[in-house]
Amino acid sequence: MRMPLVVGNWKMNTNVEQAVGLAKEVSDLTHAIDQVTKVICPPYVSLEPIKKALAGTKLHVGAQNLHPEPSGAFTGEVSVHMLSGLVEFAIVGHSERRNIFGESDDTVASKVIAAAAHKIRPIVCVGESTNQRDSGNAIDLVKQQLFASLNGCQDWTRLIVAYEPLWAIGTDKAASPEIAQEMMGSIRKAIVSKAGSRAGEALTLLYGGSVKSGNARSFFEQQDIDGALVGGSSLSAVEFSEIIKRAEHVD
Ligand code: PGA
Repeated sequence: MRMPLVVGNWKMNTNVEQAVGLAKEVSDLTHAIDQVTKVICPPYVSLEPIKKALAGTKLHVGAQNLHPEPSGAFTGEVSVHMLSGLVEFAIVGHSERRNIFGESDDTVASKVIAAAAHKIRPIVCVGESTNQRDSGNAIDLVKQQLFASLNGCQDWTRLIVAYEPLWAIGTDKAASPEIAQEMMGSIRKAIVSKAGSRAGEALTLLYGGSVKSGNARSFFEQQDIDGALVGGSSLSAVEFSEIIKRAEHVD
C-alpha cells in the first residue's frame, strides 16, 4: 500500500521569519497525523532555518527546484549537491518553471536523474493547457510529456508524479475528480507498461490545481490518486492541515 502524500508548494512567498512560523504551525496542527507523509516546500532561503526548527518532527522539507550540476558558473542557481542532505524531496518541472523560465522536458529529465542520484525524491510535474484539453488529446499529450521528462531515469520505484492541469493551477477551478482519475489511471497504466507492475504499484501520484480542504477528499478517494500538490492553500496552516487530515483513512 502506498502512503498518502501531501506536499505544500509555497512558491515565492514568505520571508524567513514568516516561513519558520508557518512551518511550526503546520507541524503543531498535524503532529498527531502519522499515516500521511507531509511535506512543505518553502523558498530556498528558508530551508535551513525550517529544517532546524522542525528537527524531531514528522514534517518533511522539500525544494521547489534544483540545478542538476553539482557546482559551476550558473549564477543564481542552487545545485542538487547543495540540497543533498537538506531536503528529501524536490519539485521538478513545475508548469511555472516550464512556462515562465523556459524549462524543456530535457532539462526536467536531467533534474530527475540528478535528484535521484542524490537520494532526493523528485516530484515530477506534468499537465496539459486549456487548448490541449480542448483538443481531446490531453491524455496522450501528458503521457508524452511525462516520458520525455523521465528520459534516462533509472529508478522508477521512488517516483512521484504530480498531475497539474494548467487550467486548474491558481484558478479556483480544480479538475473534477473523474477527470483527474482518468488521467492518473492512464499514467499509472503507462508506467506499468514501460517499467513493470512493481514500478506502477510503487508510483505515488498527486493531483494539483486548486486543491482545498473542501475538495481534497474527493480526489483522495480516487483509486489512482495518492495525495496532492497544494499551492495557494498551503500558505494557511489551518487550511493545509485540514487537507492533510482529509488524506487520512481513505479506503
Ligand atoms: P494551486 O497551485 O494549489 O494554488 O492551484 C498548485 C501548484 O501550482 O502546485
